[in-house]
Amino acid sequence: MAHLPPVDTFDYIVFGGTGDLTMRKLLPALYYRFRDGQIPDDARIIATARSPLSREEYQGRAKQALHDHVAADALEASTVARFIDLLYYVSLNGAEAQSHWSDLKTLLDMKPDSRIRVYYLATSPALYGQICENLSKQGLITDQSRVVLEKPIGTDLQSANAINDSVGQHFPENHIFRIDHYLGKETVQNLIALRFANPVFERLWTSDAIDYVQITAAETVGVEGRGAYYDKSGALRDMIQNHLLQVLCLVAMDPPVSLDADSVRNEKLKVLHALKPIEPSEVAIYTSRGQYMRGKINGQTVGSYVEDLGEGVTSETETFVALKTEILSWRWGNVPFYLRSGKRMAEKCSEVVIQFKAAPWTIFTNRPAPNRLIIRIQPDEGVMLSVSTKDPTPTDSLTLREADINIEFEKAFNIRYPDSYERLLLDVVRGDPILFIRRDEVEAAWKWIDPILQGWSKNEAPLEPYPAGTWGPEGARNLLAQSGHLWHEDMK
Ligand code: BG6
Repeated sequence: MAHLPPVDTFDYIVFGGTGDLTMRKLLPALYYRFRDGQIPDDARIIATARSPLSREEYQGRAKQALHDHVAADALEASTVARFIDLLYYVSLNGAEAQSHWSDLKTLLDMKPDSRIRVYYLATSPALYGQICENLSKQGLITDQSRVVLEKPIGTDLQSANAINDSVGQHFPENHIFRIDHYLGKETVQNLIALRFANPVFERLWTSDAIDYVQITAAETVGVEGRGAYYDKSGALRDMIQNHLLQVLCLVAMDPPVSLDADSVRNEKLKVLHALKPIEPSEVAIYTSRGQYMRGKINGQTVGSYVEDLGEGVTSETETFVALKTEILSWRWGNVPFYLRSGKRMAEKCSEVVIQFKAAPWTIFTNRPAPNRLIIRIQPDEGVMLSVSTKDPTPTDSLTLREADINIEFEKAFNIRYPDSYERLLLDVVRGDPILFIRRDEVEAAWKWIDPILQGWSKNEAPLEPYPAGTWGPEGARNLLAQSGHLWHEDMK
């Protein structure tokens, strides 16, 4: 068991404390950090929700959640008992001024104001403003208080601004931590290391050497009981506006002057500002959207999206999106960036593919295949570079064959890959915003997404069906074919 330096002690107050995110992600992540010695024994995790539960009842639910979502060999009875002891529960409706705020106040008043307080809003974003206003009215926001906002921050630029304005009335921007859990993934952070610690890559990281870039986040799961949220969102808002644009920023940004949070975020923002707009009238050219039908995943028949939503429902929501963009800058002029994400696809796979340009000339009997760098975000985290080598099979000429230089991180470093929330939750306590989204990034991302939504709402690009268990609709393939490009799975 690794022993890392503990963070300063804290109170973590979770609104939505009985919800799925808290049980599946937040408590297990905090448990792992506690087990590694990073959370002091006098820290408190105070869950709040409307259900009238006693502290013991909540602790029982939390214990079950750990058993369901933490690896069995990490669950030592004594560590679990010490962790459960950190948990408190307050029955409270955070959005109502008249609720049981005094119970929370009493609990928080037991500790000095100088103690770090994190308010984690794992609720509907529609409640963020009201919860912050109530915290403020109750005098619960101290100098050491931070607030964490889960995505989605709005459904377009206007609604995002309304949320950011209302939270911003009570917390200064540097105390607002907007979570994008993709930034907590080791392999996403590793993009910074890979690019800026290895001149061998960074010197080639321009339109001189790179032909095109693909960023994919494919899932095999469907909407999994989240239909009510997902049907109003769709893949563009759920995955592209946040996770994939963030990955794109890290792939494309210029070197920051330091690892200071604002240096990194300034460079990311420049990428968002340089994205070539897709006008509403252009969505048929630059985007493809689809919805899954019945099909097979791992040999099992699965239902269509509308079947997953419930009986007699119809929907025009996209469960798949692919799009082509460019970054209008000296470094990236004319390099297509393809982004795609979908549910019920052939494989679970998040990756970045950097396709290098072909050699201009060949002295061999066959042409060398262009080099390709694949950064596997998940699963099988790693980096792979395809290179041309001499085909060792005996022939009378020097023929080329492709082979891979392959690093599999788990094997290379022999460590458990932490869940992204483990890093992010403690970064909030440390007050380090490098892996969180600044308000201007949210705005720039929505500014670019809004015209696409407008084009779709006018039905400028058809919603194409695709069978579950495939790589999406034909339109996604055509998007690349126009430029003679292929998605990664079609190159194999
Ligand atoms: C969430 C989306 O933000 O990310 C989900 O709301 C999606 O729809 C999930 O399933 C994917 O995360 P990961 O880490 O499994 O790629």
